[in-house]
Parts: sequence; structure tokens; C-alpha cells
Amino acid sequence: MEHVLEVQSVTKKIDNKTIVDSLSFHIKRGEILGLLGPNGAGKTTTMRMIVGLASITEGDIFIEGHSIKTNFKQAISKVGVVVEAPSFYPFLSGYDNLKYYARMAKGVTVERIKEIVELLGLEHAIHKKTKTYSLGMRQRLGIAQALLHRPSLLILDEPTNGLDPAGIREMRDYLKKVARHEGTAILVSSHLLAEIELMCDRVVIIQNGKHIKTYDITEKSAQEEITFIVGDAEKAAQVLGKEFEGAPIRVKDHALFIQMKEEDIPSVVKALVSYNIDLYYIYRSKQSLEDIFLEATGGNIIE
Ligand SMILES: Nc1ncnc2c1ncn2[C@@H]1O[C@H](COP(=O)(O)OP(=O)(O)O)[C@@H](O)[C@H]1O
Ligand SMILES: [Mg+2]
Repeated sequence: MEHVLEVQSVTKKIDNKTIVDSLSFHIKRGEILGLLGPNGAGKTTTMRMIVGLASITEGDIFIEGHSIKTNFKQAISKVGVVVEAPSFYPFLSGYDNLKYYARMAKGVTVERIKEIVELLGLEHAIHKKTKTYSLGMRQRLGIAQALLHRPSLLILDEPTNGLDPAGIREMRDYLKKVARHEGTAILVSSHLLAEIELMCDRVVIIQNGKHIKTYDITEKSAQEEITFIVGDAEKAAQVLGKEFEGAPIRVKDHALFIQMKEEDIPSVVKALVSYNIDLYYIYRSKQSLEDIFLEATGGNIIE
């Protein structure tokens, strides 16, 4: 099964208020998916439904093909979750906290603890008491704990809250490592664009509980915008509009912005030259997630 998580037209209503509205998305094995939206968009509620902490009003959620409604036990056995800032026994070491937790989980061996400690780069801190840990280290230990039983889906609700930029970068690096090494599908929520763009492969943008856009960060070429600086941009737009039918072209002063593939640049240049249009510069101007987010949401909900 390629989709570890499948959210199918899920709706959540509380007292007649629709909090999540027919939301659908999926996560593939080894993929890091960001759930992005402003505060109150419904991210936490969606995650609570995925782990069975909140009931589903309509629709269904499948984890490794098991319905959370009809096959809860099997579905939830594949999930690791860090919903709030993780708490530990402060006077025990990180290692003893993991060992203590492992006793409650099925089939977690000492070897597995060692493997996860190494994967998350916790070796240098693991024998220190957790009360000495920074927030970033506590997050890392919480994620280690959630991964001990080899879940195929890891869920993190706003994991970068309170972390400094260095901490966020570290988290991104070790999450990518986890996704790659263990094939874990990771769902991360955030209300911060820049963080999610750095951390995820794909982003589902939600607003008022509704799915408004999916953005594939790994599929860069599809989002690529090439800028041409020309003598007569209006004329150039006319010419290219005819030559490359349907190509999205914007004009501003002497600049021509075209969403296109890089390999089509030579034919655009030829067309411009053949119509005697002066060409000064060509450069790539990738649309940022922020542009896409603003475009999709009407530009009024960034926090
Ligand atoms: N138990 C609840 N009862 C009533 N309203 C709730 C409850 N839980 C969440 N909400 C409302 O649902 C909306 C979405 O909340 P939440 O899922 O926490 O959003 P996010 O995590 O994206 O900030 C908010 O307007 C919130 O006030
Ligand atoms: Mg939340």
C-alpha cells in the first residue's frame, strides 16, 4: 500500500459549527506532508481525529488501509504521535525515560532504542537527566519515543513552536533522515510558511477547515517562473501568447513573467528574436510558497 494515511472527505462538526469541512488528503510512505493554515484552521482537530482523540462526524480515515472507525486497534498501532510538548520524568536520563516507555510498548528491544537514539543524533545527551534538556532536545526525545514501536505514520502538531532557527533546521534534518531511513510517513502541522516549506515534501493548505490547495515542493519545475527583460514587453506578450498558446504570461514594465519549463527557453528566445524584440536578461524566479499561499487565501490570513 503506497498511501500510509488516507483522509477521505472528513467533516467535523461541534454544536452545529463545521470545524473541518470535507477534508481529503493522503501521505505516501517516506513522505513529509505539511498541514499549513492559520490558527483556528482545524489542524489540531484533524490530527485528533486521525489518532482517535476526536470523533469523525462524516467521512473516514485509513491508516495502512485500516479504518480508524471500524478497525481502530490495528489502525492506531501504526501511529506515533507528539501532540503537545512532550513531558518526561525530569530526574531520569533520556535513556531511562525511553526504556521506561518501551516497557509499555510491545516488542521494543534495547537494540531498537539504540538505533533510534543514533538516528536522531541523541547520543551525547541520552545519559543526562531530561530536566537539563533544552526544548529542542525534549522535542527530539519525544519524537524518538514516538518512533520506538516503528510506526509507519508519525504525527507532529506544531513541532517547531518555540524553537529557534537552528533548532528548526536540526528538526528538519532529522525528520528527513527518519523518513528516508525508516520509510515513515510524517504529518507536520504549522501556521508558519517558511518552516513548512523547509521541512516538507508536499503541503496541504487549509483555511476554515477546508482544503484550499496542495503544493508539491519537490516538483519545482512545475512552479517555475522565468522572467524575460525585453524592450517592448507588451509586444513580446502578444507574440508569445500566439506562439505558446495558453502559457500563463504576466507583464510588468519591461518584465515578462512566464510559467514554463526551462527546456522551452530557447524557443521563446527564437520567437522574440524573429519579431525583432530586444532581449536583455533571462532569469528564474521560482514562485515561493508564500506567493502561492497568499494567492490561494486571498492574502488576508498570514499571522
Ligand atoms: N472542543 C471544541 N469545542 C468547540 N470548538 C472547538 C473545539 N476544538 C476546536 N474548536 C474550534 O475549532 C477551530 C479549529 O481549531 P483547531 O483544530 O485547534 O485549529 P488549529 O490547530 O488549526 O489552530 C477553532 O475555531 C476552535 O475554536
Ligand atoms: Mg493547533
